[in-house]
Amino acid sequence: MVTDPEETLAQLVRDALAAELGEQYATADPIIRPSQFADYQSNAALPLAKALGRPPREIATAVAARLADLADPDGQAEAGPIAKVEVSGPGFINITLRDEWIGGQAASQLADPRLGVALAEPAQRVVVDYSGPNVAKELHAGHLRPTVVGDAIVRVLEYLGHTVIRAAHLGDWGTQFGMLIEHALDIGEQATAKELEAGEFTAFYQAARAKFDAEPSFGDRSRQRVVQLQAGDEQAMRLWRMLVDDSLVYLRDVYARLDITLTDADMDPESFYNPVLASVSGELEDKGIAVISDGALCAFPPGFSGRDGRPVPLMLRKSDGGYGYASTDVAAIRYRLVDLHADRIIYVVGSEQHQHFELVFAVARQAGWLTDRASAEHAVIGLMTGPGGQRLKTRSGEQVKLVTLIDEAVDRAGEVIRDRYADPVLRQQIAESVGVGALKYGDLSVARDSSYVLDFDRLLALTGNTGPYLQYATARIRSIFHKAGRDPAAVTGPVAVAQPAERALALSLLGLGRALSDVSVAAEPHKLAAYLFDVASAFTTFYEHCPVLTAEPAVRDSRLALAALTLRVLQAGLGLLGIPVPERM
Ligand code: ARG
Repeated sequence: MVTDPEETLAQLVRDALAAELGEQYATADPIIRPSQFADYQSNAALPLAKALGRPPREIATAVAARLADLADPDGQAEAGPIAKVEVSGPGFINITLRDEWIGGQAASQLADPRLGVALAEPAQRVVVDYSGPNVAKELHAGHLRPTVVGDAIVRVLEYLGHTVIRAAHLGDWGTQFGMLIEHALDIGEQATAKELEAGEFTAFYQAARAKFDAEPSFGDRSRQRVVQLQAGDEQAMRLWRMLVDDSLVYLRDVYARLDITLTDADMDPESFYNPVLASVSGELEDKGIAVISDGALCAFPPGFSGRDGRPVPLMLRKSDGGYGYASTDVAAIRYRLVDLHADRIIYVVGSEQHQHFELVFAVARQAGWLTDRASAEHAVIGLMTGPGGQRLKTRSGEQVKLVTLIDEAVDRAGEVIRDRYADPVLRQQIAESVGVGALKYGDLSVARDSSYVLDFDRLLALTGNTGPYLQYATARIRSIFHKAGRDPAAVTGPVAVAQPAERALALSLLGLGRALSDVSVAAEPHKLAAYLFDVASAFTTFYEHCPVLTAEPAVRDSRLALAALTLRVLQAGLGLLGIPVPERM
C-alpha cells in the first residue's frame, strides 16, 4: 500500500496525541508542515498548549516520545516510517523519515497502475455543469475557463472513483429562437443551412438581432414564431433542430481541438426541461415557496436582499406566462437531485451568475430537494481579461472567438519551436499540442475564481509554471531513457534515496494522491497544477545534483526508477488536467 507521507505522519501524530492526552485528541489537527530542519514538522502542540494551560514545549516533548514509541513499537526501527523525532523552538516536533521507508513507498507507487492514489471513500454521484455553450452562438473567450476548468474537475473526480455526470447546460431554448427561425425563413432554408454549416453563427445571429431591433414587424413575427415553436409546430421545430444540430457539429469540433471530454450525450439542453417547467413551478407555488408578484411567479428565498433592502426574486414564470433561464435551472436542480440522485452538483460558471445560483440552491433547499445528504456548489470562474484588465474584445467591440484564441496560441507556439523541427507536419502537430497546452494550462494554473490577464508570452514561456515547461519536463525525461536505451514503462524498483534531492523528489512524487483529493474538495484544479510544477522543479534539482546515466549500476537503476516514476506522475497529472503531452519537444 502506498501512503502519502504527510497523511502517514498526520495519523501517527493523532495517535500520539490520543495516547498522551486522551482519546478526545485523536481528531485534533496534527498541523503537519514541511520543515527546514527535518522532512516535516507538527505544530500541534502550540494551539493545544493554550487550551490545556501547559507549556507547549512540555506537550511537544511528551508527544514526541509517544511518537517515537508508536513509530517503532517493537524496537525494530527498520519497519516504521520515522527515523528521528526532535523538539525545537517553542514546541515544534520535527520529524525525519527513514530513507528506506521513502524508497519502499516510491517503489510501490511505481508498481501501482493507480500510482498510489486511493479511491475516494465513499464514491459519490457528481453532476458537473460546465462549459455553458449556447445554440447558434460561437464559443467566445469567456467560455475557455468554464470549459477547461470543468473538464479538469471531471477527470480528477472520475480518477478518484466518483461517478460523474457531465452536463453542459446547452442554451437551446428561449425567445431568441423565434427571432432566429424567423430570420432563417426570411433568407431561405438553403441559404441558412449553408451559412450554419460553415459555422458562421455569429454573423447569422447578428443579422437576426439587427432586424429584430430595427423592424417592429419582424419583432412581432418573431414573437409569434416562439409561440409556434413552443406549441411544437412542425416547420418551426424543423428549423430549430437544424440550428441545434449545426451547433452540435461546431461544438464537437472545438471540444475535440481542446481535448474536452464532452460529447453530444452530455449536452443537457435547456429544452429538455421545457415539459416540466409548469409542474415544477406549480410544485413551488403549492408549497408556498413561490408567490405571484406583479403578475409574475417568483420565489423570494430568505436571506437575500438587494441594494434597496427589498427581497431578491427568483423569477419562475414571467407575467406573460413564459418561462426563462431561472425556471430551467430550478427544474434542472430538481431533476439532478430527485431523479439522478446526485450527491454533489458542481456548477462551473462565471462569477457574474453567483447570486442566481445562490437563489436556485436556496429554493432547492426550501423545496426539500437539496437536503443534508447532498451538496450544490457554484465553482466560481473569474474573468480572463485583456492587458487593460477589460474583457477581451475585438477591434469592433465584439467578444473574441474561442477559436481565434486557440489559433493564436498555436501560431505563437509554432514560432517558439520553429527552429527545432525541419519536418513541417511534425512541427505543426507539436505546435498544436504546445499551443493548446499552454492556453489550457495557463488557465488551470491560476485559482479558478481569480481573474488573470491573458499574456501569450507568459503562457508559452519554457520556464516557470507553464504548460510548455511541464511538457518539456516529460520530453526531457524520455530523452534520458532514450540515451539509456531503456523503456521507462518497463522500469521497476528498488528505489534507494540517499541524497537530499532524491528524498525531496520522492516525497513530492508520493504526494499525488493528496494533491488530487485537494482538487476534489473544493473543485480546484490549480492545486494539481501547482503540485505538478513542484514535481517538475524537484526533478530539475535532482537531475542537476544526481547524475543518472554515469552513476554506478545500483544507483543508476534507482535513479532511473525515480525518473520513470516522475514521468508517470507528470503524464498522469497532465492527463487529468487535459493537457496534451507530446512525445518529443
Ligand atoms: N448558457 C449559459 C450562459 O451562456 C450558462 C449555463 C450555465 N449553467 C447553468 N446551469 N445555468 O450564460
